[in-house]
Amino acid sequence: MKKLIFLFALLSTGCSGSGTDGDTSFTVHEELTSPNGQLTLHVGLKGSKPCYALNYKGKEVILPSTLGLELKEARSLLNGFDVGEAQRTSFDETWEPVWGETRTIRNHYNELLVPFVQHDPDRTLLVRFRLYDDGLGFRYEFPEQPTLTHFTLREERTQFAMAGDHKAFWIPGDYDTQEYDYTISRLSEIRRLMPDAITANASQMQFSPTGVQTALQMKSDDGLYINLHEAALVDYSCMSLELDDRNLVFTSWLTPDACGDKGHLQAPCVSPWRTVMVSDDARQILASNLILNLNEPCAYEDTSWIKPVKYMGVWWEMITGKSTWAYTDLPSVRLGETDYTACRPNGRHGANNANVMRYIDFAAEHGFDQLLVEGWNIGWEDWFEKSKDYVFDFVTPYPDFDMEMLNDYAHRKGIRLMMHHETSSSTRNYERHMEEAYALMNRYGYTAVKSGYVGDILPRGEHHYGQWCNNHYLYAVRKAAEHHIMVNAHEAVRPTGLCRTYPNLIGNESARGTEYQAFGGSKPHHVTILPFTRLQGGPMDYTPGIFCMDLSTFAPNESKVLATLANQLALYVTMYSPLQMAADLPEHYSRYMDAFQFIKEVAVDWDDSRYLAAEPGEYIVVARKAKGSEEWFVGGVTNETAREMEVSFDFLDPSRHYVATLYADAPDADYEHNPEAYRITHGSICATDSLRIHMARGGGFALAIREALCGDETAMPLDIWKPAE
Ligand code: NOJ
Ligand code: CA
Repeated sequence: MKKLIFLFALLSTGCSGSGTDGDTSFTVHEELTSPNGQLTLHVGLKGSKPCYALNYKGKEVILPSTLGLELKEARSLLNGFDVGEAQRTSFDETWEPVWGETRTIRNHYNELLVPFVQHDPDRTLLVRFRLYDDGLGFRYEFPEQPTLTHFTLREERTQFAMAGDHKAFWIPGDYDTQEYDYTISRLSEIRRLMPDAITANASQMQFSPTGVQTALQMKSDDGLYINLHEAALVDYSCMSLELDDRNLVFTSWLTPDACGDKGHLQAPCVSPWRTVMVSDDARQILASNLILNLNEPCAYEDTSWIKPVKYMGVWWEMITGKSTWAYTDLPSVRLGETDYTACRPNGRHGANNANVMRYIDFAAEHGFDQLLVEGWNIGWEDWFEKSKDYVFDFVTPYPDFDMEMLNDYAHRKGIRLMMHHETSSSTRNYERHMEEAYALMNRYGYTAVKSGYVGDILPRGEHHYGQWCNNHYLYAVRKAAEHHIMVNAHEAVRPTGLCRTYPNLIGNESARGTEYQAFGGSKPHHVTILPFTRLQGGPMDYTPGIFCMDLSTFAPNESKVLATLANQLALYVTMYSPLQMAADLPEHYSRYMDAFQFIKEVAVDWDDSRYLAAEPGEYIVVARKAKGSEEWFVGGVTNETAREMEVSFDFLDPSRHYVATLYADAPDADYEHNPEAYRITHGSICATDSLRIHMARGGGFALAIREALCGDETAMPLDIWKPAE
């Protein structure tokens, strides 16, 4: 391609967002357009540094931004490059996920592979760009060459130069937790609004006062929704972004290992994909499959054992403080030495036979697939913040948890128990016991495990999102697959679409989930942001479905759940996951059985999903068609602002008649003052109808729609309020 020299007249954008090296000339060697022609990518050199820029419908999304990596022992892959002969391909396929938001997914892109060649020593760094209609993915590829075999990353230096001071929905860069509330601010305000805990730790922990995590959602003043994340994070450190807030340029910032290094690589190898999603319609960001498409196809031949799961749990009672994970109140125990049968029980242990049987009865009666039981195994007395290596063995139950009896009891009632492996972040200990722990699950018929990584990582000094731990999480998922076990890992690294390749990774937490409603509460806007950010990489085990909002009524807990009951129902649709929990206690569901009906009915696997309305931080409305059926479920959530939402049913089949049940906020509902007030109505609808639905502050609505049956003729139009039977 003819070389073009672009002198980016940065003054025209009112900022100098093209990097901080002072050199503003970008020599374009290659141009690539997306299949629909709306995105244009330019690739070339800025000085002697690899450089790229991205436009969408003629608007600048990424200003010229340099690429490269700083190496520890060898000459860095940062500059001194020429551009070699590029290769182009196009790709268009449709694939079927094992579970998902839609039955099929189209993977359609134009690709450009650019060799950047260094001399003295002669080395080639390849950058593969894939341009989709909904965004860009690119990754570094390191071919095996005599001058590059084993190498250590000091840092990856991938820039994302923003074209304006966008509104951003961000959480702080942190190597060990993602469980933050989101801040909504201009990019230039990040430094000022960074939590004190991060700023105070900045130098000691190498945290940055302008560092943020991905997926980072932004909105430009001219209406572009831009999202930065990564895909296929394998054998590499997780990327955060550090903002140069004078020039509005993000640079990749990898999680260090215990020695401060950012990664140990051996060529041939590749980096994860760096992703830029863009659209002028927020709904398109939610509907995007860019991250999944950039991941490798399914690695397993037989996936028949992988099944979406709706579950309850002996869980919320421990989270709220009503009962305990531990069997005793001893301050200290030792694996293999403490004789629990000789210890005095504390009388508040949640995972006891009678209580577990009570949950099994309720979950089985209401059609759930599984029941999670936490606190079933020895070691919980001093599990946390003690930096204990040998903390759990994952196989020995407490004396009041009869594993064989309870599994038999559950199976006779048609449900399974779900295993829990809290590792306390002692990853080495977990790997030591993993084979035996999974074999035990096989012996008793468990098919899913919720794992967890609370506290500092052992080996000490490693971080939750470093290369070492990322390899551990994947090891656990692959090993589980050998045992036909599905994994839901909490506190693990944020997902990057690996569930396409390893669909037994059926869930992750990796963000601030419902548990924080018991730790002081989460802002109502949280659930209008997560689908734009955390959920881009894969499903979240958000654990919705709380019906009793004042926790002090049943537990020693002053926290209030900052959501309405109808909002909690909506989350089963707005927070896509093939793993959904009904997180509250059976006795709370018993109080509102008519509303609980929605949780019982809602599907967990889908043929189709339609994002009807969306604005990050404000509201989301989505309709989903249950897999293999004509049932649709619609969910809507709003932030702290009450709003009316007009829902049009034009997604329904015009040749069919339907009846719908609407679970909405009562007119006087409010997340702070009257959170449990809801109203259920029932009526007939068809594709030409639309419905105006009120959402309270912190509220929402849920709709269950099914084809009309004989006898449904009497159902009135939905706008004539009619109580459900
Ligand atoms: C944190 C997890 O997010 C929570 O769900 C779990 O109950 C606790 N760790 C204990 O493992
Ligand atoms: Ca957690």
